[in-house]
Amino acid sequence: LPPPALPPLTLYLAAPRGFCAGVDRAIKIVELALQKWGAPVYVRHEIVHNKFVVDALRAQGAVFVEELDECPVDRPVIFSAHGVPKSVPAAAEARAMIAVDATCPLVTKVHNEAQRHSEAGLQMVMIGHQGHPETIGTMGQLPEGEVLLVETAEDVAGLVVRDPGRLAYITQTTLSVDDTAGIVAALQARFPAIVGPHKEDICYATTNRQAAVKAIAGKIDALLVIGAPNSSNSRRLVEVGRSAGCSYAQLVQRATEIDWRALEGATAVGVTAGASAPEVLVNEVIDAFRARFETRVELVETAQENIEFKVPRILREAV
Ligand code: F3S
Repeated sequence: LPPPALPPLTLYLAAPRGFCAGVDRAIKIVELALQKWGAPVYVRHEIVHNKFVVDALRAQGAVFVEELDECPVDRPVIFSAHGVPKSVPAAAEARAMIAVDATCPLVTKVHNEAQRHSEAGLQMVMIGHQGHPETIGTMGQLPEGEVLLVETAEDVAGLVVRDPGRLAYITQTTLSVDDTAGIVAALQARFPAIVGPHKEDICYATTNRQAAVKAIAGKIDALLVIGAPNSSNSRRLVEVGRSAGCSYAQLVQRATEIDWRALEGATAVGVTAGASAPEVLVNEVIDAFRARFETRVELVETAQENIEFKVPRILREAV
């Protein structure tokens, strides 16, 4: 008897998805540092929020720690793509360590904005997620207590500010574009004089990945977002899928985490990947579908990206 025919299914593959320029650069920095200085090279915090990436770099000799004082002073240390409070490079310098900053240049841009506004006498409000390393790093550009954090539009009502006429806001780079617009509207309603960023702080990669999800949401029965549970931009993609009408949207780290029962009867499934999720995991997911369905893959591309960031000078000659 021939094997039973597989049920047909269309996979809508969102583009852009996966690695952004900041993640690409951060990984390159660790690899170049290993080439230049040999193992071990220390990395403060997961270089990017993805276990697969971290494990691969660990196998090459990177050692991941949460705090600087876990690193020996005579080995190089790299700061993760999310950015660090000012106190961290200062402490590395005080200990005469070689430190390489893998903070995404688009996060550094927000750091500089905070600094500039604060020097101009404006008090800062940050829209972000409490406890996320990027939020900690950005708030840590200014002295403790100087940056007020809001997570939701409701939080705006509770803000206690020094002078409502002298305020500016900044945001985390990986927020939901739509939710943030609501929070900004609430800030502007309560503080009409509040100053915003020149160009949105939410980065191009976040914006493009969310737009791509919206473009496929209407065609699919279910959405799978490949990404880590601690990846902010990946979690936002799940939320964007849900608010765009996808009743089933799930974050999966890789193919083994797919809940096939939940996909029973589905004929159209969307797949995307967060900015820190490597393409090999996307291919793994596609292969898993091919093993279970007569799969047709359709690419839905809503933007093209060709941004690339240079690595810090100290590593350029290693290239
Ligand atoms: Fe940078 Fe945006 Fe990626 S801030 S690390 S380009 S998600």
